[in-house]
Amino acid sequence: MNAFPPVLKRLALGGAQWGAHAYGIANTQGVLREKDAEGIINYAVERGIRSFDTASSYDTSECVIGRALADCPAARIVTKTPVFHSKVVRSEHVEVLIKAFEDSLEHLKVSQVYGLLIHHSGDLLVPGGHLLFDAMKTLKDLKRVSKIGVSVYTAEQAHAVLAKFPVEIIQLPMNVLDQRFLSEEWLWALASRGELEIHARSIFLQGALLMSPQTIPNRIRFLADPIEKFRKTALEINLSPLQGALHFVLQQKALTQVIVGVHSCEELQQILSATQDCSLHSIDWTGCAIDDPDFIDPSRWKPV
Ligand SMILES: NC(=O)c1ccc[n+]([C@@H]2O[C@H](COP(=O)([O-])OP(=O)(O)OC[C@H]3O[C@@H](n4cnc5c(N)ncnc54)[C@H](OP(=O)(O)O)[C@@H]3O)[C@@H](O)[C@H]2O)c1
Repeated sequence: MNAFPPVLKRLALGGAQWGAHAYGIANTQGVLREKDAEGIINYAVERGIRSFDTASSYDTSECVIGRALADCPAARIVTKTPVFHSKVVRSEHVEVLIKAFEDSLEHLKVSQVYGLLIHHSGDLLVPGGHLLFDAMKTLKDLKRVSKIGVSVYTAEQAHAVLAKFPVEIIQLPMNVLDQRFLSEEWLWALASRGELEIHARSIFLQGALLMSPQTIPNRIRFLADPIEKFRKTALEINLSPLQGALHFVLQQKALTQVIVGVHSCEELQQILSATQDCSLHSIDWTGCAIDDPDFIDPSRWKPV
């Protein structure tokens, strides 16, 4: 039995990069071939990664994960509901959620998953939103999912959802430039009491944090100075940008899962090596934080 480093228990691979659409600000390779994506997943499993994040809206991603993990019963998969963006939630939305979940299980070739998250938190906050949450609770009672939760973009969304619904998992964006959730002590208190799992994504800000100044595309040129400041801070303590970005999130002890996206086995191997090399003595990264959501929320970046 391979004794993999404990840090790998916290590392998860994200599946948005394995869909049928090119994903990521740094993506110069376009859409990944399915067999290449399966190769990355097999590479990950062989090196001790067991957690995978995907969504029904990532089109082929669930099928790719299902094929690649067919012989890996220990895998912990988190998927997400469709995005409704409806002013009111009605019973037909509940039917769509359940049908999409059944399809997800079929695509993933499993009878149950570890987590099911509401992909768009606003769907829970409109009139009738409780119908979606009740349906997810029923799926949990039927042992089709172990934990139910929500994916958010802002602390306001997290506040609003957790004030109304006893979610067990929250997925949120976090990286060395986007430290907005660190000041939400109530959230970390819930996690420390074991009442909530916190999963972080956007660790590399869709790859922007790992770009050299020359390759930063015009549409995020406003990030050039903050990224350069981060690179300098990392260099001062002999860390590469990759090590620095990983060090920042891995030192947040209450984070259950750190989700990274990759387009190749090479990228994944670099991440695995970086997690091994960077000792987790505490480093103050607060100087790298920026608060402007237009800068740090990729969903607000102007499309190509
Ligand atoms: N609302 C939601 O629920 C939501 C939203 C976003 C993401 N997610 C989840 O989070 C996952 C991660 O996506 P993310 O947007 O957060 O991405 P991320 O992890 O911040 O960045 C991923 C990008 O970083 C680059 N990268 C990774 N390893 C690298 C290496 N060793 N060297 C250089 N570049 C490297 C790759 O870009 P290139 O290969 O293109 O250079 C990769 O696409 C997604 O797959 C998805 O599962 C969920």
